[in-house]
Amino acid sequence: MSTQNSETRIFRAPGRVNLIGEHTDYNDGFVMPVALDFFTWATVSPLENHKLQIFSENFNEEIEVDLDDQNLARRGHWSDYPVGVAVVLERAGYRLRGAKLRIRGEVPIGSGLSSSAAIEVATASALVANSGLNIEARELARLCQRAENEFVGARVGIMDQFVSLFGKAHKALLLDCRSLEFELLPLPDNVRLIICNTMVKHELASSAYNERREQCEAGAKYLNVTALRDATLEQLEQHRSGLPEVVYRRCRHVITENTRVLTAGEALEQGDLDHFGKLMAESHQSLRDDYEVSSEELDLMVELAQKIDGVYGARMTGGGFGGCTVNLVRNEKVDEFSARVAEGYEQVTKIKPEIYITTAADGAEEVSHG
Ligand code: GLA
Repeated sequence: MSTQNSETRIFRAPGRVNLIGEHTDYNDGFVMPVALDFFTWATVSPLENHKLQIFSENFNEEIEVDLDDQNLARRGHWSDYPVGVAVVLERAGYRLRGAKLRIRGEVPIGSGLSSSAAIEVATASALVANSGLNIEARELARLCQRAENEFVGARVGIMDQFVSLFGKAHKALLLDCRSLEFELLPLPDNVRLIICNTMVKHELASSAYNERREQCEAGAKYLNVTALRDATLEQLEQHRSGLPEVVYRRCRHVITENTRVLTAGEALEQGDLDHFGKLMAESHQSLRDDYEVSSEELDLMVELAQKIDGVYGARMTGGGFGGCTVNLVRNEKVDEFSARVAEGYEQVTKIKPEIYITTAADGAEEVSHG
């Protein structure tokens, strides 16, 4: 029997895969993600109080919080994401109505495909609608990012939340993370985006991500720029001797990656996939050697992919330290690619990878059924 009443509404928000532009968003730089056809669904109905009852289908667990409780804080629990979003909305002055929320996520967790942004954006969309509020999507993206920064404790940039709201089917989103202006670039239909999951999970809130941010901030300070987005390679070289070697390499990654994203945007517009793929390979190398956020499993997955005919580009995607690679593969090579990469990976690591053949999807929206 359905327990839904007439005020029940359903929202969904996608995860994402980033084609190029890694660890540039929190440096005010450029990124090129795609919203994926993996979603988190949030079913919401009002409660006549100021509480949230949240049930997670994935964890088969319900929690209840009182939004008047001034001591709500991170617990290291799945509920930190939806509760964090509610707390940040309230702190920003949006008065929420009590709600019963049911959440179901199909984005693999801890795989670099932004299950966190998907749950944040799905929850935010549901809570905002349930409260009769109207919040502009850019502002909503910022609030979701703030929930992750301030409540969950991961100092992530804006990329994931933004593309989860603004992504479009068949398009890649080239975003300027400073101005939040963006362009939607067509993805050619003779290639598929294949995601290979190493099945090694990462933990973003872990210190390595925040440490990278601090190193970038130190670099920007030394170079006397607002953010690394404003620095050039020439400037960096001039100051090389004064910078710790590791900070120098972090800065070099960010500066060269920003240039790669803009060049990749031009390549995509011209339909030049060979060039695009070459930039993906360079991005991976730079993340591996200069930024040091890859892993043996990610490197192996990329090497295996690069050996296969019909693969334009392969690189790690997302925060790193595990998670997934993204691959641009000609349509007719998809089956061969999936079989060979899976086999090669399992042979070496003894881990069975998951391979997802994906499509670029639309950003968050209200739907009639979950
Ligand atoms: C995570 C963060 C993003 C971004 C990427 C790296 O996905 O959520 O903001 O920094 O890592 O590009």
